[in-house]
Amino acid sequence: MPEVQALVVGSLNMDLLLSVARPPAPGETLLAQRADLQPGGKGGNQAVAASRLGVLVRMVGRVGQDALGDGLLRALQAEGIDTADVLRTDEATGMASVSLTHGGENSIIVAQGANALLSAEDIARVPELRFRAKVVVAQLEVPIPTVAAALRRAKALGQATILNPAPAPADGLPGELLADADWIAPNEVEAYALTGEQSPERAAKALLAKGPRAVIITLGAKGALVATGEETRLIPAPKVEAVDTTGAGDTFLGALAYWVCRRGEDPFGAAALAVQAGALATTRRGAQAGMPTASQLRAAGADL
Ligand code: RIB
Repeated sequence: MPEVQALVVGSLNMDLLLSVARPPAPGETLLAQRADLQPGGKGGNQAVAASRLGVLVRMVGRVGQDALGDGLLRALQAEGIDTADVLRTDEATGMASVSLTHGGENSIIVAQGANALLSAEDIARVPELRFRAKVVVAQLEVPIPTVAAALRRAKALGQATILNPAPAPADGLPGELLADADWIAPNEVEAYALTGEQSPERAAKALLAKGPRAVIITLGAKGALVATGEETRLIPAPKVEAVDTTGAGDTFLGALAYWVCRRGEDPFGAAALAVQAGALATTRRGAQAGMPTASQLRAAGADL
C-alpha cells in the first residue's frame, strides 16, 4: 500500500447549487435561473483540491447508505482518492443548499446528516498504517471531538496538521484543538468569531498565542494574511472574474496541504500558491468543478 501524503478528515456533502438574482426575503418563493447537483463538503472539497495538484490523498469520513453517498464516493474515487476509510451509515448523506448570487457570492446551509456521526472511535479505528501521512487536514463540519482525536493522533505520530476551523463553533475552539494544529486557516468571518477581533492582524495574533505555529487568514479577493511568531505579511491574490466562490477556501486549503507535502514548512510560500489556486477556482461554477490541476496553475504562473 503506497503511503498517502495527505489524510483529510472531514465532511462529504452533496451540494444543490441554485443561481438566484438575490437572496429570498422571508416568506418569499424565488425562481432560480439554474440548479445543479454537485459533490461538495469541506472535507471532500479539500481532498479533491489537494489530489488535483498531484498529492496522494486518503479521506476519512461518513456517508449514508444512499444514492447520494454512492455518488460522492464515486466522485472521490474518480479523482484517485483512497476512500477505504469513508464509512457508510444509516443516517442520510450530508447535503448543502448553496445559493449563488451575481458576482459568485454564495450563502450555504448544511444538513450534516452522516457527517455528524463521524466519531473519535472512528478515528481510533483507522489502522496506523493507513493513518500515516505527511499532513493531516481537518475542518469542523464533523464533530469537534472527532477533529480533536484526529489532530492528537497525528501529532503523536509526528505528522504535520492543518486546521480549517469552518464553520466556526459558536462557543469557541477547545484549547487542545489549537495546540495540536500546526497551521490554522480560518476565513475573516471565522477569525472574528474565534477571537472577537475585527482586524485580521489582531485576530491572527490572538490565535497565534493559543499554540499554532502559523495563522493563515483568507481575505477573499484581497488574498491572505499570514502570521508566524516572527513575521506577519499580506499575500495578495491575483485579480480574476469570479463566477462562483463556493469551494475557493477549500481549494486554498488543498494547496496548503500540497505545499506541506512537497515543500515543507514555509506558510508564506504555501499561501502564495494557495491564493492563486483559490482565485482560479472561482472562475468556474461548482465547488469541485473549478479546482485547478497542477498544470493549470503552472500555466497561470504559479510556482509548483
Ligand atoms: O466550502 C464549501 C462547502 O461548504 C460546500 O461544498 C458545502 O457542501 C459546504 O460544506
